[in-house]
Amino acid sequence: MASEFDGRSVIVTGAASGIGRATALAFAAKGARVLVADLNSEAAGSVVKEIEEAGGTAVAVTGDLSEQAVVDQVARTAVERFGTVDVLVNNAGIMDRMSALGDVSDPEWERVIRVNLTAPFLLTRAVLPHMLAAGRGAIVNTASEAGLRGSAAGAAYTASKHGVVGLTKSLAVMYRKQGIRANAVAPGGTATSIVVEVDQAAHGPKTLGPHFVNLGDVAQPEEQAAAIVFLASDAASNINGAILPVDDGWSA
Ligand code: NAI
Repeated sequence: MASEFDGRSVIVTGAASGIGRATALAFAAKGARVLVADLNSEAAGSVVKEIEEAGGTAVAVTGDLSEQAVVDQVARTAVERFGTVDVLVNNAGIMDRMSALGDVSDPEWERVIRVNLTAPFLLTRAVLPHMLAAGRGAIVNTASEAGLRGSAAGAAYTASKHGVVGLTKSLAVMYRKQGIRANAVAPGGTATSIVVEVDQAAHGPKTLGPHFVNLGDVAQPEEQAAAIVFLASDAASNINGAILPVDDGWSA
């Protein structure tokens, strides 16, 4: 039976863990060939193996996506291996220490902005020529609840995710006539390592502690992945520039 993404080429960043991993697996299950991009080579390799064992096609590129050389390698590998890039999911991200603004150091600010905002810009810029040549493409960025309003998640993180929202909307307006759509998901609290680590640093060794209660039910990474896959799909052909909250009503 033909699957929705049969033969399509998808890049997912931060695909070794959490939301990105669930997204890579979801695309592969729908027939896509997936490039798994992440810092963590061992975990990225495991995701590739899992996809291949299920009969799918995947390749890993590991490195720091805030570096131009790594970004270029991701775009080049996708085109060499898969011929084109149909879907780009800019998902890799880091959190800061949730410090008050006055306590944020220059390197911390710059690192969070570089990974969360500049890296998606760099990879999108590298991939766009291939989408433009094909006359089609879908970009889905992982923003955050912290991209929609002020957030206790830290000034650098909140600013970076507002930037991701702006980048998404700018792309949507700029490239819609060329067949390229850009949308974002805005996850609320989701059970992944990023949250557990930050939460434990703030509140001690719990799974999901006080910061994340009363904010809607914590999502599973697969629930974020389903929204990302939908936004990249032909079913979403008229959806462009949308920022979709996936947060159990947290932002309602
Ligand atoms: P995660 O920590 O499980 O996954 C993030 C992945 O990104 C990791 O595999 C990590 O190695 C990779 N990564 C980080 N920096 C990188 C870099 N410079 N180059 C390449 N890879 C890098 O966390 P999660 O939750 O799956 O995060 C995915 C996205 O979801 C992030 O953008 C995060 O800000 C966003 N998000 C997560 C929420 C949550 O509650 N988990 C809520 C809102 C947004």
